[in-house]
Amino acid sequence: MTVVDSVWAKRIRGLWTGRLKFRPNPPGKNSVQPPFHPARAEEGFHPPPGAGCASERMLYSHDSTDSSGGTIIGDVIVARDLEKRFEDLIAVDRIAFRVREGEVFGFLGPNGAGKTTTMKMIQCVSPKTGGTLQVFDMDVDTHPREIKSRLGVVPQETNLDPDFSAYRNLLVYARYFGIPKREAEQRAEELLTFMQLEEKRDVPIDKLSGGMKRRLIIARALINAPELLILDEPTIGLDPQARHLIWETLRSLQAEGNTLVLTTHYLDEAERLCDRLVIMDHGKILVEGAPADLIREHAGSDVVEVEQTPEVIARLTGLGVNYDLAGDVLQVFTDRPHDVARELLEVCRHEAVTVRPATLEDVFLRLTGRRLRE
Ligand SMILES: Nc1ncnc2c1ncn2[C@@H]1O[C@H](COP(=O)(O)OP(=O)(O)OP(=O)(O)O)[C@@H](O)[C@H]1O
Ligand SMILES: [Mg+2]
Repeated sequence: MTVVDSVWAKRIRGLWTGRLKFRPNPPGKNSVQPPFHPARAEEGFHPPPGAGCASERMLYSHDSTDSSGGTIIGDVIVARDLEKRFEDLIAVDRIAFRVREGEVFGFLGPNGAGKTTTMKMIQCVSPKTGGTLQVFDMDVDTHPREIKSRLGVVPQETNLDPDFSAYRNLLVYARYFGIPKREAEQRAEELLTFMQLEEKRDVPIDKLSGGMKRRLIIARALINAPELLILDEPTIGLDPQARHLIWETLRSLQAEGNTLVLTTHYLDEAERLCDRLVIMDHGKILVEGAPADLIREHAGSDVVEVEQTPEVIARLTGLGVNYDLAGDVLQVFTDRPHDVARELLEVCRHEAVTVRPATLEDVFLRLTGRRLRE
């Protein structure tokens, strides 16, 4: 049984019921929502009492125009000229991005690119040193408590409390959000089941495998029914089964209308999950877009790979075809792979030439290079 189909997935949706009450039409992938307007109260749209002021809780606070022209879509995060310095080091170098409500937005980049630093500024745990950053239409410097109460965070480092069991970790975390005890207990039980950890309920943290700890951290991030989930390498070190479970979980959370921001070094994961993403390097954003668009733009449709020999280089040079060097292999990024392959087969062995579709990994390596980072 998959997570999305499971009874528990349906039960867990109950955690979001309170919030969904004032999401009259939870947006899914690519959905377009009108901005909230007081006049909508006449259509039966009423924020529940005690839900915070309308301007704080409304979903469509930062409006922007989408590429199709004129349509209003809410932005959950807006960064402009965002900078983070650690003394002489500029870890995040005046970047700008917008995360739209209901989308999965990815941050990719080599080690040290500035992804975690950016995540920490969004989480209001590391103050920016320049620019502006708004989350839910609130400034991270002036409204950290309000922002944090609506966030779920999966940090890059596993930081569960080793003195407690899986269940107790969830309960203790629920206290930070002031969730009443009985409600916290119910949520903790449901979340353990949602992440398929119910059998590990009373097991101490040091007796859990790496994958179980990662799943528990995701369960913990959901304890306050967050609208925005920040996931810093959520599937690091997991086996394929656990990765698929987490992908299904993230998709079902998105289907509920949540916004997800994630970093990952698994480019196939980014390609599957992200509606849009940025590739960062040395603190700067190099490109932004939907995975398929980035692949088309920066790698073309296909890659012809061929063993490097003087004859191959001479033929490609004669044809005026550009190529990249990947170890002993030459890569030709092209929209006409079979024409290129046919030419190459005249000067090398049949097995030496392969044609495959271009991937996000090709884009990543072309833009950030192959040199290992410090
Ligand atoms: N607290 C800190 N003090 C000083 N330098 C820091 C601090 N935190 C991060 N850095 C530096 O900022 C830069 C960006 O680090 P960051 O952790 O954001 O990278 P990352 O993209 O998340 O990398 P990775 O993929 O390895 O997790 C690095 O050069 C790092 O050494
Ligand atoms: Mg990191």
